[in-house]
Amino acid sequence: MEDLIEAIKLKFDLASKSSLGGAELQQMRAKYLGKSGEVTDLLKKIKDLPPEERPAFGAKVNELRKYLEDRFAALAEESKAEEMRLSLQRERVDISLTSCPSRGALHPVTLVEKQICDLMEAMGFEVLSGPEIETDYYNFRALNIPEDHPARDMQDTFYVTENILLRTQTSAMQARVMERRKPPLKIVCPGKVFRSDNDASHSPVFHQIEGLAVDKNITLCDLKGTLSYIAENLFGPQTKVRFRPSFFPFTEPSVEVDVTCSNCGGKGCSLCKGTGWIELLGAGMVHPNVLENCGIDSGKYSGYAFGIGMDRVAMIKYGIPDIRLFFENDQRFLKQFGK
Ligand code: DAH
Repeated sequence: MEDLIEAIKLKFDLASKSSLGGAELQQMRAKYLGKSGEVTDLLKKIKDLPPEERPAFGAKVNELRKYLEDRFAALAEESKAEEMRLSLQRERVDISLTSCPSRGALHPVTLVEKQICDLMEAMGFEVLSGPEIETDYYNFRALNIPEDHPARDMQDTFYVTENILLRTQTSAMQARVMERRKPPLKIVCPGKVFRSDNDASHSPVFHQIEGLAVDKNITLCDLKGTLSYIAENLFGPQTKVRFRPSFFPFTEPSVEVDVTCSNCGGKGCSLCKGTGWIELLGAGMVHPNVLENCGIDSGKYSGYAFGIGMDRVAMIKYGIPDIRLFFENDQRFLKQFGK
């Protein structure tokens, strides 16, 4: 019987030589010390021994049990330490690594968009976005531009089908919004617009932000106040705004808006071609036909609208000579902004 005890001890010593994980240890512990484990089996055998041999055998089995318990405790410690060592190795951070990935920067047009949107939101305008693929109706007809209207020639359009096109102006959002919501309305809609055009100051895709406010008693003064506020924020507090009469089918009256040149402060330089002024955007009072097209009583309500070319703003603000730089994704160019 004593050989049996030795044999179990030997078997255990052999099995516990290699390092064991937590789960393996538990299994092994059950095998030796569990309810139907080897030690329990030994104890059960006591009754088969002659009575005089029983105490000595019992003592030996207890010795074995004590030995196993101590070893298991030690093995558990070792296994924990090994797990910790492995996890430290896995999660090791090499603090000697010097080349960190370079930090990104916001695109200049994104910076302008964010600046204008933050400004407008602070004045109670809501920022909305609309579809880039638009219907002829929202892009033109709802805006008082019927088929064959010469104003369509001003915007060289990419057509998808006869009635579906890539929107040429964010003004397309005006009717979309006014159809669904009734005044008072104050919204801005930034987004991409598309025209078949390509040179240093025109790109087939560019960015506009449309502003629209409709309520009772909105006047051209409200428009001028809002645009002055935007211009001062974009180009500096000394910036002045002037309105020149213009024409857009969806506004009456319509204005072309100039700001004093941020480069020379209005004295005249190469950026403003000596005039001291830079043409910035189109605006006006929403044409009664547009209001009526959207079911808004033009006798009761009036509104102003404006459309700003955000690429143009970024070009003036940051002194960028060619609009195409915005779309070439050259990191040497893009890295200079948004730091
Ligand atoms: N949509 C015009 C364009 O792309 C710009 C514009 C002019 C927008 C007058 C307006 C506006 O809202 O009132 O040329």
